[in-house]
Parts: sequence; C-alpha cells; structure tokens
Amino acid sequence: MNVPLLDIKRQLEPIRDQIDAALRSVVDDTQFILGPQVADLEKAVGVYCGSAKAIGVASGTDALIIALMAMGIGRGDEVITTPYSFFASASSIWRIGARPVFADIDPGTFNIDPCEVEKVLSPKTKAILCVHLFGQTADMDSLNQAAGTVPVIEDAAQAMGAAWRGIRAGNLGEIGCFSFFPSKNLGGFGDGGMITTSSTHLAEKCRALRVHGALKTYIHEDVGLNSRLDSIQAAVLKVKLPYLDGWCERRRQNAAYYGRMFANTPVGTPRILEHATPIFNQYVVRIPRRELLRKRFAELGIGHAVYYPLPLHLQPCFRDLGYRKGDFPVSEQASDETIALPIFSELTDTELHFVAKTVLEHVASFS
Ligand SMILES: Cc1ncc(COP(=O)(O)O)c(C=O)c1O
Repeated sequence: MNVPLLDIKRQLEPIRDQIDAALRSVVDDTQFILGPQVADLEKAVGVYCGSAKAIGVASGTDALIIALMAMGIGRGDEVITTPYSFFASASSIWRIGARPVFADIDPGTFNIDPCEVEKVLSPKTKAILCVHLFGQTADMDSLNQAAGTVPVIEDAAQAMGAAWRGIRAGNLGEIGCFSFFPSKNLGGFGDGGMITTSSTHLAEKCRALRVHGALKTYIHEDVGLNSRLDSIQAAVLKVKLPYLDGWCERRRQNAAYYGRMFANTPVGTPRILEHATPIFNQYVVRIPRRELLRKRFAELGIGHAVYYPLPLHLQPCFRDLGYRKGDFPVSEQASDETIALPIFSELTDTELHFVAKTVLEHVASFS
C-alpha cells in the first residue's frame, strides 16, 4: 500500500470550487501583487493569531529577514537560535550580517532548551529566535524568563494555529514569522509568508521593508527587499484559513493514534508540553536503526522524511562560525535518530494503521 507523506490533492478536493472561484476573481481583478486580497488575508490572520498587525511577505524566509531588520539587528549583533531547524532559522540571521549563536534543544520536544539559552546570552545578544518546530510551540514560560529583556522572535513557519496557554503562535513574542510553503498546515500555491506583531512601530517598519524600504512611493527610508505577497496566494489562503483548525484537529487525532500504538515500545514519541497545543505539521519519532526502517518504507511505498539530517552548526556555509561536531549533542543525536511519519489530515485509518504496523514490525525485528 502506498502511503504518501503528504497529499495536498486530497485536501483540495472538497474545497476545489471555492479555490477555483477565488483564483478566477484574482484573474478578473488583475491586481496581482498586494492589493485588497492581501489586505483581507492580513486582517484575517491578525484576528486568527490575536496579534494586532499582520504583514504579508513573499516567503517565511523573508518574514524572518524583514523581522530582524525591522528590529534594527545587523553587523556585530548576536541572535540566539536552535541548531535543529530548517536552514532559514539561522541563514536569516547570517544574511542580515549578524551572528547566529546556537543553543541546544530539549531532547523530548526538539525545541530550543531555555537553560541552554541562558548559557550563551551575552551583551551582544539582540534577540532570541525560537522555532516552534514541527508545530509545537517552544516552552515560552521558561524561554521568556531566560530572555529577560531580550526580545523573542518566533519562527512560527511550521506552527500557524499552535498555541501556548491558549495564546496562538505569532502572538507569543515581539514578532512572529510564518511560512505558507505548500506543505505547511496552511499552505499556498507557491511561496508566501506573514509577519505578525502587536507593535505599530515594527509593523510600519516591516511594511516599508517589504517594498524596498519605501514608506512613500520612490522615497526610500531604508534599503529593504522586494518581498510582496501575491494576490493569488492571499486568495487561496483566505479560502483555506477557516478550515485550518479542523485540519489541525485531525492531525492531533492521528498523532494520538500513533502515540497509543507506540506506547511502551522502543519508538521515541515527541513530548508534548502541558501548556502547548501542537498542530503537528510533522510527526517526528526517534527510531532505533532508522536507516533500516527507511529502506523498508521505501520498499513498501510509505512516504517519510528526515528533518533535519545535518544540524545547522555543522552546515558547510557556517564553517566560519567555528562550531564543531559534538558542540550540540542533543541536536546531533536527533539528526541521526529521527524520522517524520505521514500525519496529514486526510490519511485514512487503514493507512495510519499500516504505517504504525510497519514501524512496530521494524522495532520488533531486533528487540
Ligand atoms: C522552521 C522554518 N523556518 C523558516 C522556513 C522558511 O519558510 P519559506 O520556505 O516559506 O521561506 C521554514 C520553511 O520550510 C521552516 O520550516
């Protein structure tokens, strides 16, 4: 039985008429960049996340870069982040001329460990960029405590809809950054991103930075980016947003099923913190002899992925930062042991069972 890691077609089928109508309206309108579609989506995302302002940009990576720039961070500054994330969490810091300073993760949640953050805080630290990895928010109570007066930037690229103590991601720090990459729980038909903040000053800065730093046309206060959200993306995302909570709930149910199946086995399931409401953009487990399971999955046609096989401190492009293998053992071990299983909302019970059974057969084969 083939089980894909993600099947966007199944998600679109029931809402296809609404999507087609939304796409047609953009074509009829011919306003392809920003405009009313983007303004409407910004309003809707702002309400959804509970943050006063939302600014649509061209990608999640740009959201991070623009957020850092808006906060005035640059050359000579340090930003603390996790070595276990998608590349953009650190490359955005490097791209604006600042130094990414890594702090290891918690082995259960895969998110940055606030105790490790405390160890690397310095007078040069201008922000902590935490990632809500795989759709579970970081431990925001401990992180905010560790941060003190240092602002927290949320890389919420994988976490639209996730919450901490009932407060949604994007509204848990100074500024939040989302991605609408098609595989996200709220995914577009191409690249897209959003910044959320309750600060009027930061929102204004971000709005200017996404259009070359111009507050007035052709008058540039800063050197910004060309990073505008397309109307087509906004139109699609507006249709999808009301369904997001339902899709996330299905993912939580799928995760709960795996949790029950893998209880008391050598499969390491993710630890969910008491105050977190995760959305399971990915369901990532630790598996003994992972490469053997990957081989079996490939034979059977079960979709899977390794997020992320090489931690960020060991990426060749960051050689000059001076980190070495062994510096962040928890992240390095996670890179060696973890695998993402299919978790998307439209998975059938039969598919879920087949995946779980295959994993259990794998661990039983050598224990
Ligand atoms: C944690 C994290 N940060 C940042 C990004 C960057 O988002 P985008 O691909 O939209 O640029 C991603 C996207 O994959 C991500 O998963």
